[in-house]
Amino acid sequence: MRKKQVIDAFGQADQYASHAHLQRLVADQLAHILPPLVHPTILELGCGTGFLSQHLRHRWPESPFLCSDIALPMVQRCRSHLGNQNPPLYAVLDGEQPPLPPDNIDLMAASMVFQWFGDPSGSLARLHGLLRPGGCLAFATLGPGTFREWQTAASALRMESGLPAYPTAEAWQRAWPTPGQAPLREEVITVHHPSGLAFLRTLRAIGAHQPAPGYHPQSAGQMRRLLRHWENGEGLAVSYAVLYGVFFRDSLAPSMKIS
Ligand SMILES: C[S@@+](CC[C@H](N)C(=O)[O-])C[C@H]1O[C@@H](n2cnc3c(N)ncnc32)[C@H](O)[C@@H]1O
Repeated sequence: MRKKQVIDAFGQADQYASHAHLQRLVADQLAHILPPLVHPTILELGCGTGFLSQHLRHRWPESPFLCSDIALPMVQRCRSHLGNQNPPLYAVLDGEQPPLPPDNIDLMAASMVFQWFGDPSGSLARLHGLLRPGGCLAFATLGPGTFREWQTAASALRMESGLPAYPTAEAWQRAWPTPGQAPLREEVITVHHPSGLAFLRTLRAIGAHQPAPGYHPQSAGQMRRLLRHWENGEGLAVSYAVLYGVFFRDSLAPSMKIS
């Protein structure tokens, strides 16, 4: 049920690429910490419109590359953004359980996708099993502290926030079957919006407006109260606590440490 809502929301997000500034920035940062693999076989999960896919294709133009998303319209948008030069293969698949043979991928990548997973730790174990010896999973996801201003405003007004419980950095590291090979760093990015309404419109435009599973959305009146509490005279600031991980299947080469 939740997965279907996520697929529908992202499927309908046809303005994603022109509103997803934070997601573009995060994909650029993730691209900078990709390991220097030689001719890797690449699997991208949750490609969206292709912010990270473009980096992957540019960096490894000749590599076998399967570019995927759970929402068909996102795969189609990605295909049209990437164009016909050295196109990757495209697939619609659930990144929580890609139906691929084990020990087959050198580089798995996912930018701003894992926060939508229903079973983050089980998924991580399955993804680990798809990697070849020496392979790695590079990802960026949202951590606790994301939308903390929303949480604060909701608590002050004694409302439920509806925010998902994002796994901590330690939880991601613990879930990786070879935990010693799982360096991860956090960056808090603050985005300013002219008003609460502008913020909600952006979330909707990029398809990221699905609340936590089981949450009953607030009435329009309650939401207006919450946004008024949150806004100050100059609009509203929103924190994103972004976790960047480069998790290796086997032992971590010293040059691969990320800071
Ligand atoms: C916030 S967007 C990020 C898209 C892109 N990676 C980027 O950086 O712009 C999240 C993407 O993850 C996809 N997604 C959500 N759940 C997924 C899942 N279980 N498996 C694969 N993709 C998923 C959505 O369809 C959407 O395209």
